Amino acid sequence: MLLWILRLRIEMNIEKTIQWVRTDSLNGVSRMIDQTLLPYEYKKIDIKTTNEMYDAIKTMIVRGAPAIGIAGAHGVVLAALESINCSDFKAQVVKKANYINSSRPTAVNLSWAIKKQLEIVENFNETNEKIIELLIENAIKLEDEDIAINKRIGEFGSTVIPKGGSILTHCNAGGLATVGYGTALGVVRSAFEKDSSIKVFANETRPRQQGARLTTYELIRDGINTTLITDAMGAYFMKMGMIDVVVVGADRIAINGDSANKIGTYMVAIAAKYHNIPFYIAAPKSTIDSSIKSGDKIVIELRDSREVTEINGKTVCASNVNIINPGFDVTPASLITGIITEYGIFKPEELYKIFE
Ligand code: MRU
Repeated sequence: MLLWILRLRIEMNIEKTIQWVRTDSLNGVSRMIDQTLLPYEYKKIDIKTTNEMYDAIKTMIVRGAPAIGIAGAHGVVLAALESINCSDFKAQVVKKANYINSSRPTAVNLSWAIKKQLEIVENFNETNEKIIELLIENAIKLEDEDIAINKRIGEFGSTVIPKGGSILTHCNAGGLATVGYGTALGVVRSAFEKDSSIKVFANETRPRQQGARLTTYELIRDGINTTLITDAMGAYFMKMGMIDVVVVGADRIAINGDSANKIGTYMVAIAAKYHNIPFYIAAPKSTIDSSIKSGDKIVIELRDSREVTEINGKTVCASNVNIINPGFDVTPASLITGIITEYGIFKPEELYKIFE
């Protein structure tokens, strides 16, 4: 217990990607790094309304499954503040929370965190002010827990990284995708603390380039040896013997281990299997959706075609070409060596044990 409190205090020193900031005894804002500006500009913005929160999640000012979960938790606080004088306070909060929940469909952490907040709204027969206070306390607790959970994922995950090993990762599952420290990049960070000779290959991650813009930004800042590659290069480097292990995050994991993550992850997993390279998912329990038996039940977000047709605002293809832009794909459990969680590393077929 003492160790846990000590660790929590250390973790609280990590700068948060997203954080509830009180402006007076009851009011406050959700302060977050605007990730659309990185790596050019590091800027924090304050989200003050539920409409602003919907837009921040939808436009990916805040992105990454655990981070949008916290955004959802803050969104419920904003919903309650906006509804404080309504006679149907609870119904209004639920309505606004559902609106925020509809901003992005694939990452289960969003609905998970909103549900946790709505349990408070529904179960407590207190004044509206008292309910808001409880919602703020819970949101801050979820923030701190996220960092602590990532640290545990990192500790477990570091055991699968060979000495001096090369890790391939896809998208950004780092401090920016969480409250701090990261899931897949938490594994990298923890391994780096023990062995500074490890190396990372970061997939660029088209179309939004989270790998190039965010993962290299985080890792280079931390002094970790990082090589940026385009998404099509991974299999080549595997064949050349330059990748020892793949570690990626997840947005929703079915109870059989099928895992949705950023589009392109499935292709990486197939290449890893072919080359006998271990492929790990690093994710908290909150990313596991125990209500779905397999990955074919996961809703895949379809995003704006301009993410594909435009680079830096310039069209890079024939103007009437067809575009389909799924944001995620599902890697089948059969391609996954293990799922690294805060409870340990599970084989996909043993994942159900985490709920026992
Ligand atoms: O569309 P994004 O950038 O929100 O997608 C993020 C990912 O796919 C991450 O890999 C995933 O959320 C894990 S984050 C710890």
